[in-house]
Amino acid sequence: MSANDPLLQPFQLKQLTLKNRLMTTSHEPAYTEDGMPKTRYRLYHEARARAGVAMTMTAGSALVSRDSPPAFGNILAYREEVVPWMRELADSCHAEDCKIMIQLTHLGRRAHWNHSDWLPTLSPSGLREPAHRAFPKIIEDWDIRRIVDDYGIAAAHMEAGGLDGIELQCYGHLIDQFWSPVTNFRDDDWGGELDNRLQFTRLVLDSIRARVSPEFIVGLRLVVDEQMENGITREVGLDIARRMTATGQIDFLNVIRGHIDTDAALTDVIPVQGMRSSPHLDFAGEVRADTGFAVFHAARIADVATARHAVASGKLDMVGMTRAHIADPDIVQKIVAGREADIRPCVGATYCLDRIYLAGEALCIHNPASGREESMPHRIETRAERPRRIVVVGAGPAGLEAARVGAERGHDVIVFEATPEAGGQVRLAAQSPHRRDLIGIVDWRIEQCDRAGVEFRFNTYAEADEILGEDPEVVIIATGGIPDTDILRAGNELAVSSWDIIAGDIAPGKNVLIYDDGADHPGMMAADVVAASGARLEYVTPERQIAPDIGGMNITPYMRRLLPRDVRFTLCRRALLAERDGDGIRVTLGSDYGDFLAERMVDQVIVEHGTLPLDDVYYALKPQSSNLGEVDYDALIGGRPQTLTGNPDGEFRLFRIGDAVSSRNIHAAIYDALRLVKDL
Ligand SMILES: Cc1cc2nc3c(=O)[nH]c(=O)nc-3n(C[C@H](O)[C@H](O)[C@H](O)COP(=O)(O)O)c2cc1C
Ligand code: SF4
Repeated sequence: MSANDPLLQPFQLKQLTLKNRLMTTSHEPAYTEDGMPKTRYRLYHEARARAGVAMTMTAGSALVSRDSPPAFGNILAYREEVVPWMRELADSCHAEDCKIMIQLTHLGRRAHWNHSDWLPTLSPSGLREPAHRAFPKIIEDWDIRRIVDDYGIAAAHMEAGGLDGIELQCYGHLIDQFWSPVTNFRDDDWGGELDNRLQFTRLVLDSIRARVSPEFIVGLRLVVDEQMENGITREVGLDIARRMTATGQIDFLNVIRGHIDTDAALTDVIPVQGMRSSPHLDFAGEVRADTGFAVFHAARIADVATARHAVASGKLDMVGMTRAHIADPDIVQKIVAGREADIRPCVGATYCLDRIYLAGEALCIHNPASGREESMPHRIETRAERPRRIVVVGAGPAGLEAARVGAERGHDVIVFEATPEAGGQVRLAAQSPHRRDLIGIVDWRIEQCDRAGVEFRFNTYAEADEILGEDPEVVIIATGGIPDTDILRAGNELAVSSWDIIAGDIAPGKNVLIYDDGADHPGMMAADVVAASGARLEYVTPERQIAPDIGGMNITPYMRRLLPRDVRFTLCRRALLAERDGDGIRVTLGSDYGDFLAERMVDQVIVEHGTLPLDDVYYALKPQSSNLGEVDYDALIGGRPQTLTGNPDGEFRLFRIGDAVSSRNIHAAIYDALRLVKDL
């Protein structure tokens, strides 16, 4: 198969031969240090290059000017000191025959002025972008001259750094802020006629071409249809694409459809879990047919079959599988080896992208090695010095990861699971229609465990005796948690948990109050179930914002379902007590902001407040274990084996991971497991 595989055929881009049709499109993981792509950055790209991706478009929005402040850890391409860092990055990719380019931009209004150099942001007409909320100044003639020059200088830095080329970001950023009638309503030489609105781009291209060699690749990642009232239509977008290719100054088009000025709109450009797969692929194919130009594109092409179809059907020249490569850097290598079934699936959770805004670095929900290449392995290649018998209790995400890594290290692993199926809270979360893809986290691990010879015992509530009966050398408690609903001053017995509702164990009432003191997905998932049942729903939270631990992209599907159902959202309110009152429940609400009491009458109260660890078996085993359950954190973080022996008489070592320790999330559970077991 692989010799004729359309995905594995080379693509000629000017003098550059790309060895296959897979690339990662530009994505800023926010791994920069001082605005520079240092070791962490390099190792991240190197891992994907080594596994065979033909090209990596590094950065995401590397910045050409000082008044385009980093919005999410962007590379400062305007600084000369970037050159040696780019050189190191480029050399490491080239050593693996992976081509490397970078996306350059001026963010225009898509940034905030309140950090870095505290310069005002700017845009053609001064219109504020809802997502970043800064009020920009209207760009002036001297700004235009300066920024046009900056583009050329930044491009020259990239060529000096040994990169094969650049692409200019032209969707939602300064270049297309000139193009779009939504953001450019000037009546001078820079507005009005399309030719005027393209003038800035032409000057930028002239500036770049004047400073780089003719061989240096320059492309545009451009919006061809804004899908927005008064925005760039398909016809105008195609006109722009044609005019740009006619300049003779560019070498490829990387096609975008949609607009990104709000989180919700961004979610249609980069679909998250539960949304359509490859929604803009046909459109990108139309752009290729219309322009006859080299076309790249990415937007939820998460599986190899769709990528192959995109090339075989002539829609794309290069397929971006960006999040797919965050989840599994080894995609190309697995295709070549005929091991497509082993690819760790990107489940579209978009924890990665939401995190660059929420926490300042991209991490994958179920591949904790991504972005941690220096300390965590993508492949479990080192066998343990001596195979050990490991008992894992619990087959949720933490337990499954522990079992997978343990078995791949050559250990003899047995997993006890109290329920008939693996997956724990992930299986429950996957019951939510828009989160069903999460089940891939479980299914992939079960398949990997089966292949590595893990023994599963389902429907087995393992007590200490049963575990010790297996004669283990290591016991890993991954029993997860149970919902913590005991948080009201009184009336806790009247409340049900969000998990009761999500699992369908308790039907939604008719007049429901959800008290979300968890701030993450479970409260919103429960709200989703209740609202879909047609019940009247009030969502109450002590936070200033709805579910602040869910990012702007992941909140979108919830809001799209809850808003049409007229759900009442009440912020800054803490539920204090629930009391029976006739047929109903009287809920008293307070507030952290003062003594402001309010009451609600409902027929059901749902409480979300994370989970409490299921830790009975851990504490039962602890006194008999050789390490008394103790974890050497320095060794754990430093990547060394656990050697503590507080009880030399103990015959097994005992560890606890995931929510069995404390209420956290899927990534934390899987990371706990990987970093412990990789050194066992
Ligand atoms: C963490 C992260 C950061 C991103 N940053 C950028 C960016 O700066 N510029 C850009 O054009 N696209 C950016 N993207 C979008 C990707 O290039 C790509 O269009 C998107 O992830 C959809 O492709 P996929 O479904 O293959 O992941 C980013 C994506 C991720 C996951
Ligand atoms: S966090 Fe989700 S969307 Fe992002 S790479 Fe991982 S699986 Fe894919």
